Amino acid sequence: MDLDKKLTHVAVVGAAGKMGSGITLLLAQEMARLSLLPENRERLFRLDAVDLDPVALRGLQDYVRAQAVKTAEKTAVGLRDLYADRPDLVENEQIIRDYVDRVCSIVWPTTEMAACRGAELVFEAIVEKVEIKAKVFSQLKDLCPDAFFFTNTSSVPIGLIDEQAELGGRVIGFHFYNPPPVQKLVEIIRAESTLDEVAEVAEAVGKRLRKTLIPSHDVAGFIGNGHFIRDGLHGLAEARRLAGEHGWVEAVTMVNRVSQDWLLRPMGIFQLIDYVGIDVFRFIEEVMDRHLDEDLLDPTIERMISLGVLGGQYPNGAQKPGFFEYQKGKITAVYDPEKKQYRPLEPEGWTAKVDAALGPLPEGFRPWKALLRAPDRKAALEAHFAAIASQDTLGAKLARAYVQRSREIGQALVDDGVAFDAEGVNGVLTSGFFHLYGPINDYCK
Ligand SMILES: NC(=O)c1ccc[n+]([C@@H]2O[C@H](COP(=O)([O-])OP(=O)(O)OC[C@H]3O[C@@H](n4cnc5c(N)ncnc54)[C@H](O)[C@@H]3O)[C@@H](O)[C@H]2O)c1
Repeated sequence: MDLDKKLTHVAVVGAAGKMGSGITLLLAQEMARLSLLPENRERLFRLDAVDLDPVALRGLQDYVRAQAVKTAEKTAVGLRDLYADRPDLVENEQIIRDYVDRVCSIVWPTTEMAACRGAELVFEAIVEKVEIKAKVFSQLKDLCPDAFFFTNTSSVPIGLIDEQAELGGRVIGFHFYNPPPVQKLVEIIRAESTLDEVAEVAEAVGKRLRKTLIPSHDVAGFIGNGHFIRDGLHGLAEARRLAGEHGWVEAVTMVNRVSQDWLLRPMGIFQLIDYVGIDVFRFIEEVMDRHLDEDLLDPTIERMISLGVLGGQYPNGAQKPGFFEYQKGKITAVYDPEKKQYRPLEPEGWTAKVDAALGPLPEGFRPWKALLRAPDRKAALEAHFAAIASQDTLGAKLARAYVQRSREIGQALVDDGVAFDAEGVNGVLTSGFFHLYGPINDYCK
Protein backbone atom coordinates (compact mmCIF):
# COMPACT_ATOMS: atom_id res chain seq x y z
CA MET A 1 0.00 0.00 0.00
CA ASP A 2 1.33 3.44 -0.93
CA LEU A 3 0.03 5.40 2.06
CA ASP A 4 1.76 8.62 1.00
CA LYS A 5 -0.14 8.45 -2.30
CA LYS A 6 -3.45 7.97 -0.45
CA LEU A 7 -2.59 11.03 1.59
CA THR A 8 -2.02 13.21 -1.48
CA HIS A 9 -5.72 13.90 -1.87
CA VAL A 10 -7.85 13.90 1.25
CA ALA A 11 -11.22 15.47 2.04
CA VAL A 12 -12.67 16.41 5.40
CA VAL A 13 -16.44 16.91 5.34
CA GLY A 14 -17.72 19.05 8.20
CA ALA A 15 -14.22 20.56 8.25
CA ALA A 16 -15.19 23.75 10.07
CA GLY A 17 -16.87 21.99 13.01
CA LYS A 18 -15.43 21.23 16.42
CA MET A 19 -13.99 17.87 15.38
CA GLY A 20 -13.56 18.59 11.67
CA SER A 21 -11.26 21.57 12.29
CA GLY A 22 -8.94 19.49 14.49
CA ILE A 23 -8.93 16.63 11.98
CA THR A 24 -8.15 19.10 9.19
CA LEU A 25 -5.22 20.55 11.13
CA LEU A 26 -3.81 17.16 12.03
CA LEU A 27 -3.98 15.89 8.44
CA ALA A 28 -2.74 19.12 6.86
CA GLN A 29 0.34 19.07 9.12
CA GLU A 30 1.07 15.45 8.26
CA MET A 31 0.56 16.17 4.55
CA ALA A 32 2.89 19.18 4.78
CA ARG A 33 5.54 16.95 6.36
CA LEU A 34 5.13 14.39 3.58
CA SER A 35 5.36 17.07 0.91
CA LEU A 36 8.85 17.93 2.18
CA LEU A 37 10.22 14.40 1.81
CA PRO A 38 12.46 14.00 -1.28
CA GLU A 39 10.39 11.08 -2.62
CA ASN A 40 7.22 13.20 -2.59
CA ARG A 41 8.59 16.41 -4.10
CA GLU A 42 6.73 15.87 -7.37
CA ARG A 43 3.43 15.19 -5.68
CA LEU A 44 0.70 17.75 -5.04
CA PHE A 45 -0.85 17.44 -1.58
CA ARG A 46 -4.40 18.70 -1.27
CA LEU A 47 -7.00 18.60 1.47
CA ASP A 48 -10.51 19.66 0.52
CA ALA A 49 -12.06 21.19 3.62
CA VAL A 50 -15.79 20.94 2.91
CA ASP A 51 -18.38 22.64 5.11
CA LEU A 52 -21.81 24.17 4.59
CA ASP A 53 -20.88 27.20 6.69
CA PRO A 54 -18.72 29.74 4.80
CA VAL A 55 -18.14 31.91 7.87
CA ALA A 56 -16.91 28.95 9.88
CA LEU A 57 -14.59 28.02 6.99
CA ARG A 58 -12.99 31.45 7.27
CA GLY A 59 -12.47 30.73 10.97
CA LEU A 60 -10.98 27.35 10.06
CA GLN A 61 -8.33 29.06 7.93
CA ASP A 62 -7.36 31.35 10.81
CA TYR A 63 -7.29 28.39 13.20
CA VAL A 64 -5.09 26.27 10.91
CA ARG A 65 -2.63 29.14 10.42
CA ALA A 66 -2.41 29.98 14.12
CA GLN A 67 -1.93 26.33 15.10
CA ALA A 68 0.63 25.69 12.36
CA VAL A 69 2.66 28.64 13.68
CA LYS A 70 2.56 27.15 17.18
CA THR A 71 3.61 23.70 15.93
CA ALA A 72 6.42 25.18 13.85
CA GLU A 73 7.75 27.25 16.76
CA LYS A 74 7.59 24.28 19.11
CA THR A 75 9.32 21.90 16.69
CA ALA A 76 11.78 24.29 15.05
CA VAL A 77 14.69 21.87 15.52
CA GLY A 78 12.86 18.91 13.94
CA LEU A 79 11.72 21.14 11.10
CA ARG A 80 15.34 22.01 10.31
CA ASP A 81 15.93 18.33 9.48
CA LEU A 82 12.99 18.32 7.09
CA TYR A 83 14.41 21.42 5.41
CA ALA A 84 17.99 20.06 5.37
CA ASP A 85 18.28 20.22 1.56
CA ARG A 86 16.83 23.72 1.27
CA PRO A 87 19.93 25.94 1.46
CA ASP A 88 17.80 28.90 0.40
CA LEU A 89 16.06 28.80 3.79
CA VAL A 90 18.60 29.52 6.49
CA GLU A 91 16.98 31.32 9.39
CA ASN A 92 14.43 29.61 11.65
CA GLU A 93 11.99 32.34 10.78
CA GLN A 94 12.22 31.57 7.06
CA ILE A 95 11.67 27.87 7.68
CA ILE A 96 8.72 28.53 9.96
CA ARG A 97 7.15 30.86 7.39
CA ASP A 98 7.57 28.31 4.61
CA TYR A 99 6.13 25.51 6.74
CA VAL A 100 3.08 27.55 7.82
CA ASP A 101 2.40 28.66 4.23
CA ARG A 102 2.75 25.05 3.11
CA VAL A 103 0.22 23.77 5.69
CA CYS A 104 -2.21 26.55 4.78
CA SER A 105 -1.87 26.05 1.04
CA ILE A 106 -2.67 22.33 1.41
CA VAL A 107 -6.09 23.21 2.87
CA TRP A 108 -8.62 24.12 0.18
CA PRO A 109 -11.76 25.40 1.94
CA THR A 110 -15.02 24.98 0.04
CA THR A 111 -18.77 24.91 0.55
CA GLU A 112 -19.17 22.71 -2.53
CA MET A 113 -19.11 18.99 -1.98
CA ALA A 114 -18.25 18.47 -5.65
CA ALA A 115 -14.86 20.10 -5.03
CA CYS A 116 -13.59 16.92 -3.40
CA ARG A 117 -14.12 14.84 -6.53
CA GLY A 118 -11.47 12.14 -6.76
CA ALA A 119 -10.31 12.27 -3.11
CA GLU A 120 -8.68 9.04 -1.94
CA LEU A 121 -9.52 9.34 1.74
CA VAL A 122 -12.58 11.10 3.07
CA PHE A 123 -12.99 11.94 6.76
CA GLU A 124 -16.59 12.71 7.73
CA ALA A 125 -17.37 14.82 10.82
CA ILE A 126 -20.84 16.27 10.29
CA VAL A 127 -23.86 16.20 12.59
CA GLU A 128 -24.62 12.96 14.47
CA LYS A 129 -27.73 12.03 12.45
CA VAL A 130 -27.67 8.85 10.45
CA GLU A 131 -30.08 10.13 7.75
CA ILE A 132 -27.87 13.16 7.07
CA LYS A 133 -24.65 11.16 7.17
CA ALA A 134 -26.12 8.58 4.75
CA LYS A 135 -27.24 11.32 2.36
CA VAL A 136 -23.81 12.93 2.37
CA PHE A 137 -22.06 9.59 1.85
CA SER A 138 -24.37 8.74 -1.07
CA GLN A 139 -23.19 11.94 -2.77
CA LEU A 140 -19.57 11.28 -1.86
CA LYS A 141 -19.48 7.75 -3.21
CA ASP A 142 -20.31 9.04 -6.71
CA LEU A 143 -17.82 11.89 -6.46
CA CYS A 144 -15.02 9.73 -5.06
CA PRO A 145 -15.52 6.26 -6.51
CA ASP A 146 -12.16 4.95 -5.24
CA ALA A 147 -12.18 6.61 -1.84
CA PHE A 148 -12.13 4.98 1.56
CA PHE A 149 -14.48 6.68 4.02
CA PHE A 150 -13.56 7.31 7.65
CA THR A 151 -16.53 8.41 9.74
CA ASN A 152 -16.06 10.17 13.06
CA THR A 153 -19.50 9.13 14.30
CA SER A 154 -19.68 8.81 18.09
CA SER A 155 -22.45 6.26 18.13
CA VAL A 156 -24.08 5.33 14.81
CA PRO A 157 -23.38 1.74 13.74
CA ILE A 158 -20.98 1.78 10.80
CA GLY A 159 -22.81 -1.10 9.12
CA LEU A 160 -25.96 1.03 9.05
CA ILE A 161 -24.17 3.92 7.33
CA ASP A 162 -22.71 1.44 4.84
CA GLU A 163 -26.11 -0.09 4.16
CA GLN A 164 -28.01 3.18 3.84
CA ALA A 165 -25.42 4.88 1.63
CA GLU A 166 -24.53 1.66 -0.25
CA LEU A 167 -20.81 2.11 0.21
CA GLY A 168 -19.96 -1.54 -0.47
CA GLY A 169 -17.78 -1.90 2.64
CA ARG A 170 -15.59 1.12 1.89
CA VAL A 171 -16.35 2.71 5.27
CA ILE A 172 -14.90 2.35 8.76
CA GLY A 173 -15.39 4.14 12.08
CA PHE A 174 -12.38 6.33 12.85
CA HIS A 175 -13.48 7.91 16.10
CA PHE A 176 -11.20 10.73 17.16
CA TYR A 177 -11.56 12.20 20.65
CA ASN A 178 -11.90 15.90 21.27
CA PRO A 179 -9.69 17.78 20.41
CA PRO A 180 -8.25 15.53 17.68
CA PRO A 181 -4.77 17.11 17.47
CA VAL A 182 -4.24 16.62 21.22
CA GLN A 183 -6.12 13.47 22.16
CA LYS A 184 -4.10 10.32 21.52
CA LEU A 185 -7.02 7.92 21.28
CA VAL A 186 -8.79 6.82 18.12
CA GLU A 187 -11.41 4.09 18.38
CA ILE A 188 -11.44 1.99 15.22
CA ILE A 189 -14.80 0.44 14.42
CA ARG A 190 -14.95 -2.09 11.69
CA ALA A 191 -18.40 -3.14 10.46
CA GLU A 192 -18.94 -6.72 9.31
CA SER A 193 -19.07 -5.34 5.78
CA THR A 194 -15.86 -3.24 6.05
CA LEU A 195 -13.32 -4.38 3.45
CA ASP A 196 -9.94 -5.66 4.68
CA GLU A 197 -8.03 -3.05 2.68
CA VAL A 198 -10.05 -0.23 4.29
CA ALA A 199 -9.23 -1.58 7.76
CA GLU A 200 -5.54 -1.84 6.79
CA VAL A 201 -5.42 1.74 5.56
CA ALA A 202 -7.26 2.99 8.67
CA GLU A 203 -4.70 1.33 10.90
CA ALA A 204 -1.81 2.69 8.86
CA VAL A 205 -3.25 6.23 8.92
CA GLY A 206 -3.84 6.01 12.68
CA LYS A 207 -0.24 4.93 13.26
CA ARG A 208 1.03 7.60 10.91
CA LEU A 209 -0.83 10.20 12.97
CA ARG A 210 0.82 8.67 16.08
CA LYS A 211 -2.51 7.76 17.66
CA THR A 212 -3.33 5.05 20.18
CA LEU A 213 -5.71 2.77 18.29
CA ILE A 214 -8.27 0.72 20.17
CA PRO A 215 -10.67 -1.50 18.22
CA SER A 216 -14.35 -1.62 19.10
CA HIS A 217 -17.05 -3.84 17.65
CA ASP A 218 -19.79 -2.17 15.64
CA VAL A 219 -22.36 -1.69 18.41
CA ALA A 220 -24.08 1.71 18.82
CA GLY A 221 -22.05 3.96 21.15
CA PHE A 222 -18.95 1.75 20.80
CA ILE A 223 -16.71 1.61 23.89
CA GLY A 224 -16.27 5.30 24.75
CA ASN A 225 -19.86 6.44 24.62
CA GLY A 226 -21.06 3.00 25.66
CA HIS A 227 -19.41 3.75 29.00
CA PHE A 228 -19.88 7.53 29.13
CA ILE A 229 -23.63 7.59 28.46
CA ARG A 230 -24.44 4.88 31.02
CA ASP A 231 -22.05 6.42 33.55
CA GLY A 232 -23.85 9.75 33.00
CA LEU A 233 -27.25 8.09 33.44
CA HIS A 234 -26.06 6.72 36.78
CA GLY A 235 -25.04 10.21 37.92
CA LEU A 236 -28.35 11.69 36.75
CA ALA A 237 -30.39 9.00 38.54
CA GLU A 238 -28.36 9.47 41.73
CA ALA A 239 -28.96 13.22 41.62
CA ARG A 240 -32.72 12.71 41.24
CA ARG A 241 -32.69 10.28 44.16
CA LEU A 242 -30.72 12.66 46.42
CA ALA A 243 -32.78 15.68 45.37
CA GLY A 244 -35.76 14.41 47.39
CA GLU A 245 -33.86 14.90 50.64
CA HIS A 246 -31.32 17.61 49.79
CA GLY A 247 -32.81 19.67 46.92
CA TRP A 248 -31.80 19.52 43.22
CA VAL A 249 -29.02 22.10 43.23
CA GLU A 250 -27.39 20.42 46.24
CA ALA A 251 -27.82 16.94 44.73
CA VAL A 252 -26.16 17.91 41.43
CA THR A 253 -23.29 19.48 43.35
CA MET A 254 -22.88 16.34 45.49
CA VAL A 255 -22.82 13.89 42.60
CA ASN A 256 -20.47 16.10 40.64
CA ARG A 257 -18.06 16.37 43.58
CA VAL A 258 -18.14 12.67 44.32
CA SER A 259 -17.55 11.71 40.69
CA GLN A 260 -14.59 14.10 40.54
CA ASP A 261 -12.88 14.01 43.94
CA TRP A 262 -13.86 10.66 45.42
CA LEU A 263 -13.46 8.90 42.06
CA LEU A 264 -10.31 10.88 41.20
CA ARG A 265 -11.49 11.87 37.73
CA PRO A 266 -10.43 15.02 35.82
CA MET A 267 -13.93 16.47 36.12
CA GLY A 268 -17.24 15.56 37.69
CA ILE A 269 -19.93 13.88 35.62
CA PHE A 270 -22.17 16.96 35.26
CA GLN A 271 -19.25 19.12 34.24
CA LEU A 272 -18.31 16.49 31.66
CA ILE A 273 -21.86 16.42 30.26
CA ASP A 274 -21.73 20.24 30.01
CA TYR A 275 -18.37 19.98 28.24
CA VAL A 276 -19.64 17.45 25.72
CA GLY A 277 -22.93 19.38 25.36
CA ILE A 278 -26.27 18.35 26.85
CA ASP A 279 -27.72 18.25 23.34
CA VAL A 280 -24.83 16.09 22.08
CA PHE A 281 -25.36 13.74 25.06
CA ARG A 282 -29.01 13.50 23.97
CA PHE A 283 -28.10 12.78 20.30
CA ILE A 284 -25.91 9.90 21.41
CA GLU A 285 -28.49 8.62 23.91
CA GLU A 286 -31.08 8.61 21.15
CA VAL A 287 -28.94 6.66 18.71
CA MET A 288 -28.04 4.10 21.38
CA ASP A 289 -31.64 3.89 22.59
CA ARG A 290 -32.82 3.24 19.04
CA HIS A 291 -30.31 0.50 18.32
CA LEU A 292 -29.96 -1.26 21.65
CA ASP A 293 -32.46 -3.22 23.68
CA GLU A 294 -32.12 -0.86 26.65
CA ASP A 295 -33.96 2.22 27.89
CA LEU A 296 -31.40 5.00 27.59
CA LEU A 297 -33.36 8.26 27.44
CA ASP A 298 -33.03 10.39 30.55
CA PRO A 299 -35.86 12.69 31.74
CA THR A 300 -33.52 15.31 33.23
CA ILE A 301 -31.63 15.64 29.95
CA GLU A 302 -34.97 16.07 28.14
CA ARG A 303 -35.99 18.77 30.63
CA MET A 304 -32.72 20.70 30.32
CA ILE A 305 -33.08 20.65 26.55
CA SER A 306 -36.70 21.81 26.70
CA LEU A 307 -35.50 24.70 28.90
CA GLY A 308 -32.85 25.59 26.31
CA VAL A 309 -29.94 24.83 28.67
CA LEU A 310 -27.45 23.04 26.42
CA GLY A 311 -23.83 23.43 27.60
CA GLY A 312 -21.15 23.01 24.92
CA GLN A 313 -18.54 25.64 24.05
CA TYR A 314 -18.45 29.13 22.62
CA PRO A 315 -16.37 29.53 19.44
CA ASN A 316 -13.46 30.82 21.59
CA GLY A 317 -13.47 27.55 23.55
CA ALA A 318 -15.02 28.95 26.75
CA GLN A 319 -17.61 26.75 28.42
CA LYS A 320 -21.29 27.67 27.93
CA PRO A 321 -23.68 27.30 30.86
CA GLY A 322 -25.32 23.92 31.37
CA PHE A 323 -25.86 22.15 34.68
CA PHE A 324 -23.34 24.71 35.92
CA GLU A 325 -22.30 28.23 35.08
CA TYR A 326 -18.57 28.82 34.66
CA GLN A 327 -16.02 31.59 34.89
CA LYS A 328 -12.58 30.86 33.41
CA GLY A 329 -13.44 27.16 33.46
CA LYS A 330 -14.40 27.13 37.16
CA ILE A 331 -17.91 26.31 38.36
CA THR A 332 -19.56 29.40 39.86
CA ALA A 333 -23.27 28.51 40.02
CA VAL A 334 -25.69 25.59 39.64
CA TYR A 335 -28.83 25.56 37.48
CA ASP A 336 -32.17 25.32 39.25
CA PRO A 337 -34.76 24.11 36.70
CA GLU A 338 -37.69 25.05 38.98
CA LYS A 339 -36.62 28.70 39.20
CA LYS A 340 -35.04 28.64 35.73
CA GLN A 341 -31.97 30.41 37.06
CA TYR A 342 -28.48 29.73 38.38
CA ARG A 343 -27.81 29.64 42.09
CA PRO A 344 -24.32 30.93 42.91
CA LEU A 345 -22.00 28.73 44.98
CA GLU A 346 -21.83 29.94 48.57
CA PRO A 347 -18.69 28.64 50.25
CA GLU A 348 -20.01 29.91 53.60
CA GLY A 349 -23.62 28.91 52.94
CA TRP A 350 -25.37 26.05 51.13
CA THR A 351 -22.16 24.79 49.46
CA ALA A 352 -20.58 24.25 52.87
CA LYS A 353 -23.67 22.27 53.92
CA VAL A 354 -23.24 20.02 50.88
CA ASP A 355 -19.60 19.42 51.86
CA ALA A 356 -20.65 18.62 55.41
CA ALA A 357 -23.34 16.18 54.23
CA LEU A 358 -20.80 14.31 52.06
CA GLY A 359 -18.26 14.08 54.87
CA PRO A 360 -14.49 14.35 54.59
CA LEU A 361 -12.40 12.96 51.75
CA PRO A 362 -10.01 10.13 52.71
CA GLU A 363 -7.02 11.30 54.71
CA GLY A 364 -4.05 12.35 52.60
CA PHE A 365 -6.35 13.01 49.62
CA ARG A 366 -4.51 14.14 46.48
CA PRO A 367 -6.63 15.33 43.53
CA TRP A 368 -6.55 13.86 40.01
CA LYS A 369 -4.02 16.41 38.76
CA ALA A 370 -1.56 15.66 41.56
CA LEU A 371 -1.76 11.91 40.89
CA LEU A 372 -1.58 12.13 37.11
CA ARG A 373 2.20 11.94 36.99
CA ALA A 374 2.86 10.77 40.54
CA PRO A 375 5.39 7.91 40.65
CA ASP A 376 3.44 6.29 43.51
CA ARG A 377 0.12 6.54 41.71
CA LYS A 378 -0.86 2.88 42.05
CA ALA A 379 -0.18 2.79 45.79
CA ALA A 380 -2.00 6.12 46.22
CA LEU A 381 -5.05 4.80 44.36
CA GLU A 382 -5.08 1.65 46.49
CA ALA A 383 -4.88 3.65 49.71
CA HIS A 384 -7.57 6.08 48.54
CA PHE A 385 -10.07 3.36 47.62
CA ALA A 386 -9.26 1.26 50.70
CA ALA A 387 -10.19 4.28 52.81
CA ILE A 388 -13.42 4.80 50.86
CA ALA A 389 -14.30 1.12 51.34
CA SER A 390 -14.11 1.53 55.12
CA GLN A 391 -15.77 4.97 55.48
CA ASP A 392 -19.39 5.31 56.47
CA THR A 393 -19.94 8.80 55.07
CA LEU A 394 -22.45 9.74 52.35
CA GLY A 395 -19.56 10.67 50.04
CA ALA A 396 -17.96 7.23 50.44
CA LYS A 397 -21.28 5.43 49.92
CA LEU A 398 -21.98 7.37 46.72
CA ALA A 399 -18.42 6.75 45.54
CA ARG A 400 -18.66 2.98 46.16
CA ALA A 401 -21.93 2.80 44.22
CA TYR A 402 -20.40 4.88 41.40
CA VAL A 403 -17.24 2.78 41.09
CA GLN A 404 -19.31 -0.39 41.15
CA ARG A 405 -21.70 0.87 38.45
CA SER A 406 -18.78 2.00 36.31
CA ARG A 407 -17.25 -1.47 36.66
CA GLU A 408 -20.54 -3.17 35.74
CA ILE A 409 -20.82 -0.97 32.64
CA GLY A 410 -17.24 -1.77 31.63
CA GLN A 411 -17.68 -5.50 32.20
CA ALA A 412 -20.94 -5.52 30.22
CA LEU A 413 -19.13 -3.88 27.30
CA VAL A 414 -16.81 -6.89 27.27
CA ASP A 415 -19.53 -9.50 27.94
CA ASP A 416 -21.84 -8.04 25.28
CA GLY A 417 -19.08 -8.11 22.68
CA VAL A 418 -18.62 -4.35 22.27
CA ALA A 419 -15.02 -4.29 23.46
CA PHE A 420 -12.57 -7.01 22.46
CA ASP A 421 -11.38 -7.32 26.08
CA ALA A 422 -11.11 -5.55 29.45
CA GLU A 423 -7.89 -3.90 28.31
CA GLY A 424 -9.83 -2.22 25.48
CA VAL A 425 -12.36 -0.75 27.90
CA ASN A 426 -9.70 0.38 30.36
CA GLY A 427 -7.59 1.79 27.53
CA VAL A 428 -10.45 3.93 26.19
CA LEU A 429 -11.25 5.33 29.64
CA THR A 430 -7.65 6.05 30.55
CA SER A 431 -6.46 7.45 27.23
CA GLY A 432 -9.71 8.98 25.93
CA PHE A 433 -11.21 10.24 29.18
CA PHE A 434 -7.95 10.63 31.16
CA HIS A 435 -9.13 8.45 34.02
CA LEU A 436 -6.32 7.33 36.32
CA TYR A 437 -7.59 3.75 36.30
CA GLY A 438 -9.85 1.68 34.05
CA PRO A 439 -13.36 0.79 35.22
CA ILE A 440 -12.57 -2.94 35.30
CA ASN A 441 -10.32 -2.90 38.34
CA ASP A 442 -9.98 -4.28 41.82
CA TYR A 443 -10.48 -1.00 43.62
CA CYS A 444 -13.39 -0.60 45.99
CA LYS A 445 -14.88 -4.06 45.43
N1 LIG B 1 -17.72 17.08 19.76
C1 LIG B 1 -17.15 16.01 20.26
O1 LIG B 1 -16.65 16.01 21.39
C2 LIG B 1 -17.08 14.76 19.43
C3 LIG B 1 -16.16 13.76 19.80
C4 LIG B 1 -16.05 12.62 19.01
C5 LIG B 1 -16.85 12.48 17.89
N2 LIG B 1 -17.75 13.47 17.57
C6 LIG B 1 -18.56 13.28 16.36
O2 LIG B 1 -18.02 14.08 15.33
C7 LIG B 1 -19.06 14.53 14.46
C8 LIG B 1 -19.05 16.06 14.40
O3 LIG B 1 -19.24 16.56 15.70
P1 LIG B 1 -18.88 18.08 16.07
O4 LIG B 1 -19.04 18.18 17.54
O5 LIG B 1 -17.58 18.44 15.46
O6 LIG B 1 -20.08 18.86 15.35
P2 LIG B 1 -20.12 20.39 14.90
O7 LIG B 1 -21.56 20.75 14.88
O8 LIG B 1 -19.17 21.22 15.69
O9 LIG B 1 -19.57 20.35 13.40
C9 LIG B 1 -20.27 19.82 12.32
C10 LIG B 1 -19.87 20.62 11.08
O10 LIG B 1 -20.44 19.96 9.96
C11 LIG B 1 -20.93 20.96 9.08
N3 LIG B 1 -21.95 20.30 8.25
C12 LIG B 1 -23.19 19.87 8.62
N4 LIG B 1 -23.80 19.27 7.59
C13 LIG B 1 -22.93 19.31 6.54
C14 LIG B 1 -22.98 18.85 5.20
N5 LIG B 1 -24.06 18.25 4.72
N6 LIG B 1 -21.90 19.06 4.43
C15 LIG B 1 -20.81 19.69 4.89
N7 LIG B 1 -20.72 20.15 6.15
C16 LIG B 1 -21.75 19.96 6.97
C17 LIG B 1 -21.46 22.04 9.98
O11 LIG B 1 -21.53 23.28 9.30
C18 LIG B 1 -20.40 22.05 11.08
O12 LIG B 1 -19.34 22.95 10.79
C19 LIG B 1 -20.36 13.93 15.00
O13 LIG B 1 -20.61 12.73 14.34
C20 LIG B 1 -20.01 13.70 16.46
O14 LIG B 1 -20.81 12.69 17.02
C21 LIG B 1 -17.86 14.61 18.30
